[in-house]
Amino acid sequence: MKNVGLEVEPLIAVLSGDGIGPEVVEQGLRVLEAVGDRFGWRYRSETGIIGGAAIDACGSALPDEALRLARRADAIYFGAVGGPKWDDSRAAVRPEQGILKLRKTLDLYANLRPVRVFPALLSQSVLKEEIVRGTDMIVVRELTGGLYFGKPSRRWETSRGWRAVDTLAYSEPEIERVLRAGFELARGRRKKLTSVDKANVLTTGRFWREVATRVGQDYPDVELQHILVDAAAMYLMRRPSSFDVIVTENVFGDILTDEAAVLAGSMGMLPSASLGAAKNRAGGVRGLYEPIHGTALYTPEVVGTGRANPIAAILSAALMLRHSFALPEAAAAVETAVEAVLDEGYRTPDVAGAAGAGAGAEAVAIRIVTTAEIGRLVAERVAQIRITEPAAA
Ligand code: IPM
Ligand code: MG
Repeated sequence: MKNVGLEVEPLIAVLSGDGIGPEVVEQGLRVLEAVGDRFGWRYRSETGIIGGAAIDACGSALPDEALRLARRADAIYFGAVGGPKWDDSRAAVRPEQGILKLRKTLDLYANLRPVRVFPALLSQSVLKEEIVRGTDMIVVRELTGGLYFGKPSRRWETSRGWRAVDTLAYSEPEIERVLRAGFELARGRRKKLTSVDKANVLTTGRFWREVATRVGQDYPDVELQHILVDAAAMYLMRRPSSFDVIVTENVFGDILTDEAAVLAGSMGMLPSASLGAAKNRAGGVRGLYEPIHGTALYTPEVVGTGRANPIAAILSAALMLRHSFALPEAAAAVETAVEAVLDEGYRTPDVAGAAGAGAGAEAVAIRIVTTAEIGRLVAERVAQIRITEPAAA
């Protein structure tokens, strides 16, 4: 696992952005440092600006320098962008353009959003425990096409008033590659893939379904199921534990994963990995790692108060270790450490509802702690993790 012999230490580009971005990313970096110490893993990090902070500093949501840093990096660690300060619907420059441009330019087409319910947080969902128990799925959201990027996308004035248009467009290779990413994941899991579309209404939906069926023939060991997106929204609440891997269009995936966050108890729990085809110098895939919550989860008054949940950011760092640095044991160590800290009763306020420590487990005293305290505790547990040496050959 040691990479001490490497000529160049791998580079992490840190783009923490706006709002609670910087404070949750700080805790993720702290956990990565603990991983470095425990596993003898060396890396470098460089920071750049993005989003509203970058607009304020230089008028662009993704300055060239930040883009160059991202291109040079083996992995990108991203916080969140946006906020009321930049919320002008007519503005030509918007913070969100920063992250959208990064995803697009680096061709990070497969956005993995694992949705797992930690046993200690079973009681935190607004849904009944017996519904959420056992939920463990990965939503693969197509990230560089569809409604987010189709052209034309504009507004214009006509003799009968203003009009606006966005375009939902996909090419066959775009659909195929994200489905392949999903099928490959499903192979290493419970071998079920649910392709979500709107085939009863949209031409792109029927096309998506056709491509999914064709690609599925290459994966006879994976059970393929097609579901319409409206029904998928309902089944996510009714039988979440039945899903393994879900693959879907950009906007559908954006909406369904906010909905899925209800299962995990809080948006503050869900990490993500955005991957492309490009390999890095560290034996993995170049990827961008970010909590799914964005800045919208917490109102500006929460920023800096220590109430934000850093777990989504910390679990995103675990995904980075797994996908960009090929360190599955280190990734698992971080996930185990998060679970341990939750089992011990430590919580940020978003997951500290009245219901107690969760079913089954002995009642544990709930301790509400700060963002930094969660980071410190997880880092401490990582430092104590036992590493199993591979058996001698
Ligand atoms: C997400 C966010 C972003 C998106 C915003 C901040 C542009 O909602 O990552 O889900 O819509 O993709
Ligand atoms: Mg979203």
